[in-house]
Amino acid sequence: MLGNKSINENNHLEIAGCDVVELAQTMGTPLYVYDEELLRFNMQEYEEAFRENYPHFSLAYAGKAFLCSALCSIIEEKNWWLDVVSGGEYYLASSADFPVEKIIFHGNNKTQEERHLVLRGGVGRWVVDNEVELNFLLEEASSYASYKIPLFFRLTPGVDPHTHQYITTGKIDSKFGFPLGEAEKAILKAIQSEDLEVWGLHCHIGSQIDHIEPFLKAAEVMLQFMADFRKKHGFVFRELDLGGGLGVPYTDEERDRFPPSRLYVQAISEKVKEMCGELSYPLPRLYLEPGRSVVNTAGSTIYQVGSVKEIPGVKKYVAVDGGMTDNPRPILYGAKYQAHVGNRVVGEQEKVSVVGKCCESGDVLIEEMELSSPRPGDILVVEATGAYNYSMASNYNLIPRPGVVFLRERKPELVVRPESWSDLVRRDIVPVD
Ligand code: LLP
Repeated sequence: MLGNKSINENNHLEIAGCDVVELAQTMGTPLYVYDEELLRFNMQEYEEAFRENYPHFSLAYAGKAFLCSALCSIIEEKNWWLDVVSGGEYYLASSADFPVEKIIFHGNNKTQEERHLVLRGGVGRWVVDNEVELNFLLEEASSYASYKIPLFFRLTPGVDPHTHQYITTGKIDSKFGFPLGEAEKAILKAIQSEDLEVWGLHCHIGSQIDHIEPFLKAAEVMLQFMADFRKKHGFVFRELDLGGGLGVPYTDEERDRFPPSRLYVQAISEKVKEMCGELSYPLPRLYLEPGRSVVNTAGSTIYQVGSVKEIPGVKKYVAVDGGMTDNPRPILYGAKYQAHVGNRVVGEQEKVSVVGKCCESGDVLIEEMELSSPRPGDILVVEATGAYNYSMASNYNLIPRPGVVFLRERKPELVVRPESWSDLVRRDIVPVD
């Protein structure tokens, strides 16, 4: 079992002290639930590790992992920054009154509408991804913004983190960022502009990474670039953002595969200090942008089992009332999950496949797992669904997306209501004859 879960006297699963059967009865299924305390604890681990190891840092939560207004309040209260990657994420954050001066704005193809929204509203750091974007900014900055736009430049450090190829981003062949050799000219152009202010550099090498070395390699490449740039042009970058990407376990088997966030922060801090010492470079303010490692284990999805189908000698299918619409990660990345029968955690074990209700044979949440004989009407809880589930959910087959509940002090609080069927037709224009 991952995170803060236990089995109560009724043989029910409890998350953060809340009985999942009661949650299913009162809030409906499918349902995303988050253990708020664990989420806050994950943030605290990052903060403490930085406080112990590095003099000036900023932590920015990567909103693409999971974002809603209630989470924005926690991020703000914890004094973290927020990484947004679209006009939509920026809009959500500013609607939730998240301070725009703590927003880092990403994206490899920021549209005109997005650029103008952010230029007008204000931003903490704008991450320039490519030449075309820089030229737009040079044209638009003076007319739309009444301030110097604070910039990071995103570089591809050429480091392979050996994770799933769809979530590898820092290799030379990447759609994101400036190749090292191309960055110099662009940065100089920005330094010379009256409307822009270059604060630092950014890189993000990938996601769900299970060892620390690639992050250290990336830090090394970035600092070497900073030192070379200073030597040639006399310009000192005050800040360095090394992105996110630390992986986390999804199953008990993977429990020891990933370095804890404390170790990761400590190793990066040491590396940056060591390199700066060697290069006589002033220590930059260091940013990290964790997403998954903050929210993933804090989140679970509660389903109800519907049909159960046994093909003698072949397989037993257990179908739940959600699937690839609320968790597209198995079908996209072959991601592995584990589950429990929430209303009978301990029981006679049986090998089953947990599938969703979509019209796709590939809609399999868990290929094969021992579970305590799931039956129609049972509650099934899939663990570690806190990141890239809600945020990547779809309405395929016109299935409404689940609501989100935060569990705090043993009580549930609805923070995103479930979608209704009428939400699904809200944007349809009904022809009149
Ligand atoms: N910063 C930048 C610029 C990013 O592109 C990302 C993730 C992060 C930070 C946060 O990375 P994390 O700490 O969450 O690994 N949908 C995929 C993951 C895509 C990650 C995209 N970028 C998945 O479900 O595995």
